[in-house]
Amino acid sequence: MPEYVLGHHLKGEGKRLALMSELLDPMHRRYLQSLGVVKSGARTLEVGCGNGSISAWLARQVAPDGRAIAVDLDLSLVDVHLLNLEFCKADIMAGPVEPGSFDLVTARAVLHHVADSEKAIANLVASLRPAGAILLIEPDFLPVAIAEPPEVRAFWSGWLAWSREQAIDYQIGRTLASRLAALGLERIDGTAETAMYNGTSLWADYWTLTVKELREDLMSSGKLSNALVDTFLGYCADPAWWTQTIAFTAVHGYAPGH
Ligand SMILES: C[S@@+](CC[C@H](N)C(=O)[O-])C[C@H]1O[C@@H](n2cnc3c(N)ncnc32)[C@H](O)[C@@H]1O
Repeated sequence: MPEYVLGHHLKGEGKRLALMSELLDPMHRRYLQSLGVVKSGARTLEVGCGNGSISAWLARQVAPDGRAIAVDLDLSLVDVHLLNLEFCKADIMAGPVEPGSFDLVTARAVLHHVADSEKAIANLVASLRPAGAILLIEPDFLPVAIAEPPEVRAFWSGWLAWSREQAIDYQIGRTLASRLAALGLERIDGTAETAMYNGTSLWADYWTLTVKELREDLMSSGKLSNALVDTFLGYCADPAWWTQTIAFTAVHGYAPGH
């Protein structure tokens, strides 16, 4: 199986996935609802399902006759069981899932971690049935370019240098629409949403947990100093500090045909 940097073996990964569900599921559900294909009887596929919270919601929307499939490299942090929800341990790089059969295909915060996102997107698209909809939600770290104060900007600059070495693509959000267009998808549209958060908020907790867990890796990469990491963690604990980090880019399109 391929490596995923924030693997499920890390002790904070369950908490991190729970925070992602809390912070991102409302936006994800809103976009899914707007597509017009998530309804009773539909077949849905989520790839990189993490703890399964979105797939559980999809399964409830398509019940009783529809079916939701949730795929991940690692299903050890899934804690949901529903009759019409099937979990499948698989790598999206290996090929499409049940080609040509889904009314909806979605992936959130997955493609920036894969070695060949072009191929992963092609495999997701190939799982769609004619007129089926695909919704991709991925980060774009554009807002860190204006983060204040300058030490925080310096922290993110080191973080991005480290992530490039790890082959994580934190600029993938801006590429999604043109990639779907190149694959022949129709009615492509998208929006980027950036949370404004302060120290002690859920997003600050997310970053505190993540940075503390990766601290050793970050230090040994030479891209960040202990002092810069301490400064960043200090801001994350300060409710008077407000900032923005990720533009979550949500792009959808429809497969040709009716
Ligand atoms: C950052 S987590 C996001 C989880 C969830 N989608 C969310 O937004 O809360 C990325 C997930 O993608 C999974 N993943 C990474 N590469 C994958 C691949 N090649 N095929 C399937 N799943 C993958 C990881 O195991 C992990 O659960």
